[in-house]
Amino acid sequence: MSPLSGMNHASGDPAAPLRPGLHVAIIMDGNGRWATARGMPRALGHREGVAALRRTIEGAAALGVHRLTVFGFSTENWRRPKREVMELMGLLRAYFQSDLKRLERRGVKVRVLGRRTGLESDVLQMIEAAETQTAANDSFHLQVAFNYGGRADIVDAARAFAEAVERGEAKARDLNEALFEAHLSTAPIPAPDLIIRTSGEQRLSNFLLWECAYAELIFQDVYWPDYGPEHLRAAIDDYRSRQRRYGGLVHEDILAAS
Ligand code: FPP
Repeated sequence: MSPLSGMNHASGDPAAPLRPGLHVAIIMDGNGRWATARGMPRALGHREGVAALRRTIEGAAALGVHRLTVFGFSTENWRRPKREVMELMGLLRAYFQSDLKRLERRGVKVRVLGRRTGLESDVLQMIEAAETQTAANDSFHLQVAFNYGGRADIVDAARAFAEAVERGEAKARDLNEALFEAHLSTAPIPAPDLIIRTSGEQRLSNFLLWECAYAELIFQDVYWPDYGPEHLRAAIDDYRSRQRRYGGLVHEDILAAS
């Protein structure tokens, strides 16, 4: 999963084709503001957010994206009013109930990232069923971060490694980046190439903190319920015009330096 071992999707040439395997992650922000601006309850913003997610998955596959990770519920979202938390849990249930068969037929592999503690048993069962039923699929990877926090995930990975050391199955001196990240809930999927946040806010809010190290960041001024394939295309066009160097030099700079 080292960024240095990954191929460069963003060569700075906006006309260059996307190579297979592109991983896009999205912080789907602005549901509440979308609803409030329309005089609607926030819950309706979240419901419209599910429709936007459907459109975006369809659009992503058509645009040549192979992996999509979305932030559905953070470890900090438990601080929201109980009613809103219940609504978000209900939406995950409803989403898997209505869409799982279709995702399965279309070859989508579903994974849910984050802590499994604190979730209702029926939600847990749905998550496990979604992962099991789509485990053999490979044409598109959908990862839903749910009860996920970047710091919590790093702490959980550290604890898992420490426990392996306690059991005598690992040695502290062998720890390196590759071994550490193998304990994150995102493993073994490579880190995102591009992280998008909607709604105009410009922060990561505890999303993929380890994995964001070399991701390109794109902030789009659109509330998530209005998001669709056209916005994703614009983000990918922007991404393609960038040059990723991973701390190294681009080809022209190497020539100039030699
Ligand atoms: C942020 O908007 C969005 C969330 C906290 C939840 C995202 C959830 C969905 C898009 C629903 C579908 C998800 C799944 C996984 C079925 P916000 O409420 O913070 O908006 P605000 O910043 O305008 O208040």
